Amino acid sequence: MTKSYEGLNGGLTNYGDPDFARYLRRSFAKSMGYSDAALDRPIVGICTTASGFNNCHRHFPELLEAVKRGVLAEGALPVPFPVISLGEVFLSPTSMMFRNLMAMDVEEMIRAQPMDSVVLMGGCDKTVPALLMGAASANKPAALLVGGPMMTGRHKGERLGACTDCRRFWARYRGGDVDAEEIALVEGRLAVTAGTCAVMGTASTMALLGEALGMMAPHSAAIPAVHADRLRAAEATGALAARMIGGDRTPQNIMTPSAFENALRVLLAISGSTNALIHLTAIAGRLGIKIGLQEFNRLSDETPVLVNLKPVGDGYMEDFHYAGGLEGVLRALQPRLNLETTDISGQSLAERLARPLSDAIDRTFIRAVDNPIEPQGGLIALHGTLAPEGALLKRAAATPALLEHEGRAIVFSSLDDLAARIDDPDLDVAADDILVLQNAGPRSASGMPEAGYLPIPRKLARQGVKDMVRISDARMSGTAFGAVVLHVTPEAAAGGPLALVRNGDRIRLSAREKRLDLLVDAAEMERRRSAHIGAGEAPKRGYARLYRQTVLTATQGCDFDFLRAEGGAQT
Ligand code: FES
Repeated sequence: MTKSYEGLNGGLTNYGDPDFARYLRRSFAKSMGYSDAALDRPIVGICTTASGFNNCHRHFPELLEAVKRGVLAEGALPVPFPVISLGEVFLSPTSMMFRNLMAMDVEEMIRAQPMDSVVLMGGCDKTVPALLMGAASANKPAALLVGGPMMTGRHKGERLGACTDCRRFWARYRGGDVDAEEIALVEGRLAVTAGTCAVMGTASTMALLGEALGMMAPHSAAIPAVHADRLRAAEATGALAARMIGGDRTPQNIMTPSAFENALRVLLAISGSTNALIHLTAIAGRLGIKIGLQEFNRLSDETPVLVNLKPVGDGYMEDFHYAGGLEGVLRALQPRLNLETTDISGQSLAERLARPLSDAIDRTFIRAVDNPIEPQGGLIALHGTLAPEGALLKRAAATPALLEHEGRAIVFSSLDDLAARIDDPDLDVAADDILVLQNAGPRSASGMPEAGYLPIPRKLARQGVKDMVRISDARMSGTAFGAVVLHVTPEAAAGGPLALVRNGDRIRLSAREKRLDLLVDAAEMERRRSAHIGAGEAPKRGYARLYRQTVLTATQGCDFDFLRAEGGAQT
C-alpha cells in the first residue's frame, strides 16, 4: 500500500483544533480495541445493509467477514458502517419512496466518516441504485458488492422462483385454478434461500447493470447468494476497494456516458426490469449525464433480446449464472459496446473481453446475436397525447396481439378505487378494454408503487383472460409481465393528460409507432382541464413532505431536484 491516504485523519470533527480532534478520535477508536498499527492503516469503509426487515440480505454478516478478509489481505483496515436498508416487501407505501432517503444516507455517511474507499453492499431492488447514487455524489473510490440471487424452490415437481411464480400462482388462485390450501403451500416454497429474487427482476437487472457500468468486481453480479464463489467475490471486492485507495478510479471516472450506454444495451439485451430505466436515469443524473428517451429507443431498435429468463422466458438467475452470466451477454454485444470503458479493477472492457473463456456459453439461456429471442430490445419508450413526456412499455413481456391495440378506457382514479371495484361482478369491462390507473405516480400519495400490473378483473380472469392493456403512472415489479404501460409522464397528480381520461374514452397503443394516444379532441381536453381539481396539498411535515415537494418525474429518474448534478452530458 504505497499510495497516499488519509486514514483515520480524514474529515476531522470540527472543534476548532485539528490536533485535538485527531487525538480525541484516536482515543475513542482505541476504546474499540484497535492498536496504533491498525489505526495508522488506510481505511476501507464497508457500507452494509443487513436488516431484520430485509430477507434478501440475511447472509450479509457472512459476506461482510469475507469483504474484511480481502481488505486486510491488502493491508488496509476494514470498518463496517450501517445505512438504511430497503427490504422490498416490508416497506409502506412503497420502497421507491425511500430510495432517495437511502441515497442521501449513503452519500453523507461516505463523505462524513473517515474512509479512503468504500465497499457498497446491497442487493434488494432499491438498495443498489441508492448505493450507486450516493457513491456517485460522494465520489470516493467505491466497489459494489451485491448479495446475489436466490436459488429456486420446488412444488409438485415444478421449479419455483420469487417472484414471477408468486404472481403466476396468485393469478391462478384469483382465477379459481388453485385453491387456498395449495396457495398456502406455495407461499412457503417461493423464496427458499438468502439472496435476491430468482428471476430477471429489478434486483438482478440492477446487479448486472452495476457490473456493466464497471462498478463491480468482474464476473460477480450473478453468482448465487449461497454459492462459495459469492464469498470469494466478496473477498475480491474488499481487496479491490483497498487497491483503489489513492487512485483515480472514482465513480465519476468509471460511470461515464459511454458506460451508461453500455448499461442501457445490457438492460435491453437481458430484457431487464422497467424500474432499471428510472434507476439508471437517477444514477446518471448524479453525474450530470442525461439519458434521453429518443436515444433509448434508438438503442432498443438495434439491440436484440438475448436472455431467456423469467419473467419473459424460461430460466432463473442460477441458470443464467451457469450459462455464462454477464460475460456471455457482453461477448454477444461486443461490436455494439464502448470498449474503451474501464471497470474498478482497472481493466478496459476490450481487455476483459479479450480473455479466453473457461466454459462455453450455454445458448439455452444466453442466445447469440444471430439467433436472438427478439430482434429488438425488450423495452421501448412511448410518446403521444396521453404521455407527452414519455411512458415505458416492456414489449418483450406483452402479449404480441396487444402491442397494436385500440380500446375503451376503464378508469380507476386511485389505488383505493382500484381495490374497491376491480373485482366487482357489476364492473362494466370486457377483455379488449384498456384498464387505466390514475394517481399512482411519484407525486401521488402512494409514491409510485409497483401497482402498474393491474390485476385482470376477477370475472375476466375466470373466463381465462390472461392479459389486457393496462396504463398507469405507476411502476411495475421487474418480475411481472403483460401489456403494461408504465411511468406515464406527466403523471396524473401533476395534472398530466392521464388525470383527464374518463370512462369510455378511446385509447390507442402502437408499439410499432411508439405511440400512446388518448383519442379525445383538444376542445374537450381543454374543457376537462379547466374543471380538473388538482392533487391535494403536500403532507405537512417530515420526509413525506420533502419527497412530494422535490421529487422529479419518472423520466427524470424520480430523484430529488436538489440532488442532481449540474450539467447534462448525453448518453
Ligand atoms: Fe428483495 Fe425481490 S424482494 S430482490
